[in-house]
Amino acid sequence: MLVLGIETSCDDTGLALVDEKGLVASVMASQVPLHALFGGVVPELASREHARLIGPLFDKLLSESGKKLSDIDRIAVTRGPGLLGSLLVGVAFAKSLALAAGIPLIGVNHLHAHLLVADLENKLTFPALGILVSGGHTHLIKMNSPHDMQVLGKTLDDAAGEACDKFGKMLGLPYPGGMYLDKLGQLGKIDKNLFPRPYTKNENCDFSFSGMKTAAALWLEQHKNALLALPPLGQNYSDDFFENANEEAKNGAASYLYSMADTLVIKARRVLKEFSPTCIVVAGGVAANSFVRKQLAEFASENHLPLYIPKNKFCSDNGIMVAHTGLLLVKMGLYHDENLTAIARGKPIPNDYRVMV
Ligand code: KG4
Ligand code: ZN
Repeated sequence: MLVLGIETSCDDTGLALVDEKGLVASVMASQVPLHALFGGVVPELASREHARLIGPLFDKLLSESGKKLSDIDRIAVTRGPGLLGSLLVGVAFAKSLALAAGIPLIGVNHLHAHLLVADLENKLTFPALGILVSGGHTHLIKMNSPHDMQVLGKTLDDAAGEACDKFGKMLGLPYPGGMYLDKLGQLGKIDKNLFPRPYTKNENCDFSFSGMKTAAALWLEQHKNALLALPPLGQNYSDDFFENANEEAKNGAASYLYSMADTLVIKARRVLKEFSPTCIVVAGGVAANSFVRKQLAEFASENHLPLYIPKNKFCSDNGIMVAHTGLLLVKMGLYHDENLTAIARGKPIPNDYRVMV
């Protein structure tokens, strides 16, 4: 069973082919340099770029894999959540291919796909605790099966990735700042009490990271030395740039990321009172963060639970996660017909699969 996966929910156009043995081929075009000019994703530009790139990328995928359209058995596509214009490009492209090849479609929930890609490397068992930490989402999810997931907690404002990007921007790092903040923080000393664990003095499993951003802005007001200079003209953000950065910035980044990861652990601990998972899955762009990885690894080991974190290249948006999720759903006999719709961010993704008889 060869499944094509298509991901266009935000600013990455990703396509991949997977089968029961694993990844066959994948291609990807990131729009980060384009949106970096504006300091954030510009939705209209994102959808135009997806429309420009998706056809050539599909041709590249076929030529790199040596496969033809007629070799593909199912087409999986992200239907939400995401930017509606961007999602529509992927869904329209998937529908036209499905119609041309006469094969069924399967619409995939982007959040589920982030978590389920972990199954590519380690067979997941259910129920699992899913910790999804990305630029747009911070969710604690009870994963009952590949298509049945229950959100137990989520962010009420900024997502973990956004909180990293915003502090990165304040310090003077380029967009998106999460990865750079991590590099800087790895060189610093952690002060566990420098930043708060926001929105933890309650009983719930939700997050509110905007408090960390405010605390960071206040700290920076009082520690202006931490502001980073631009790299010398003609040079980039190299390892040397981070090594040579001031100690205050390094320590600030380390302490901020420690507090963010600790906040995730505090809330994840609370979820364990609600159900007993068989394993923990951490996914989304921020799963690449070294503080998050370390602190959640300690949390998993304290609770004697296996922890699965996909490889870094599977953590950020990609077509592989969509293709693999499609494969898992197809194996359960699920599909969509040509009435499949893209769902805008903020609206629930319906469980409207059709079942093969
Ligand atoms: O999952 P993703 O690629 O896209 C969304 O669906 O949002 O996540 C992107 C987010 C960005 O905020 C980016 O800064 C953050 O993941 N990110 C990181 C790291 N690598 C990516 N944040 C902290 N540390 C990292 N190493
Ligand atoms: Zn994502």
